[in-house]
Amino acid sequence: MFETLSKAPQDKIFALMAEIAADDRPGKIDLGIGVYKDDDGNTPIMTAVKKAEERIVSTSKTKTYIGVAGNKGFARAMVDLALDGAVPDDRVRAAQAPGGTGALWVLLTLLKRANPDATVWISDPSWPNHRPMAEQAGFKVEAYPYFDPETGKVRFDDMLAKLDSLGKSDIVLLHGCCHNPTGANLDHDQWHKVIASLKRTGAFPLVDMAYQGFGDGLDEDAYGLRALAAEIDEFVCATSCSKNFGIYRERVGCAIVVGKDAAQADIANSQMLNVIRGAYSQPPDHGAEIVRIILEDADLRAEWKAELEAMRNRMIANRKALADAIRSRSNSTDFDFVAEHRGMFSLLGLKVETVDHLKAENAVYMLDDSRINIAGLADERIQRLADAIVGATRK
Ligand code: LMR
Repeated sequence: MFETLSKAPQDKIFALMAEIAADDRPGKIDLGIGVYKDDDGNTPIMTAVKKAEERIVSTSKTKTYIGVAGNKGFARAMVDLALDGAVPDDRVRAAQAPGGTGALWVLLTLLKRANPDATVWISDPSWPNHRPMAEQAGFKVEAYPYFDPETGKVRFDDMLAKLDSLGKSDIVLLHGCCHNPTGANLDHDQWHKVIASLKRTGAFPLVDMAYQGFGDGLDEDAYGLRALAAEIDEFVCATSCSKNFGIYRERVGCAIVVGKDAAQADIANSQMLNVIRGAYSQPPDHGAEIVRIILEDADLRAEWKAELEAMRNRMIANRKALADAIRSRSNSTDFDFVAEHRGMFSLLGLKVETVDHLKAENAVYMLDDSRINIAGLADERIQRLADAIVGATRK
């Protein structure tokens, strides 16, 4: 049977993770996969998460099935976290999904049923899994201009011109915040222009919100999504708890569907549940229950928000420290954009040869497009990284 197949391409993020693990050089610097790391290079379990888990262990009485939509309290809390009432409840439906990726998959499969001939537009560049996921759902995939590696900024005029040319048979995948891989984000004015364009053309928004709270704050990061929700009467959004709750391996995400009215929301929801039942029946509960407990309990919620804020502030401080360290060594402002970026990543705009050189000579690992994970840096590593980048780019 399998002689009909050829080898599938490896996912570059997980391939890099294996390559880093196999490198035994001391002092290697891992700027690869998007997980938060503290100064010691560890990815700790948040204390609010630990407490919620302890509560689950000591109070839960059953492991029976919970239903196709998963944990309903979780889904309600996630809708509030993302939309904060920007859409009346009767038009919103949500289902728990296995991670933000699972939520995206559920939504893409739903959209394929709704508009089989649509084209999915992703940003250039985008998270490396967006294109394969949309193609696997059966869509044609195109890219809209997004990032200028020369300036480290969004090519907004080009982006808008492309969006203006789209229509009802197009689905536009937007990063809600903390753009992955670039770290360059739309400002408020740009969000409003994108929303006006979508409204004018009828192109359908699919928002990927995987990093809420990692940019400028939980509410600040949802600005674009909420502004879109106030203006556009149907859209979908995939949210993730991997990063902001640090529960990566628990696979917790939420697929949110907004319909034009309650009746359409019900139909879309019935199709979404049918997609889920036909794929994995229902999601696992443990991680979602952790999140539900935290979001519904005022004390745990406050504790979680404080921990999240500390993580965010550390990433912002890392950005400034790296930009300062490079500037002081190179006497140029070429990498100042790193301090302006937000979220976990920045795309440095280095050539692939430079990325390879940094790996071979300095044991500095980043994705081949020069995406770095800013969270994985302690001060000593920032100084060494700045030395390495300045050394490699002088060549
Ligand atoms: C990343 O982009 O590194 C993360 O979102 C992890 C992943 O699943 O790719």
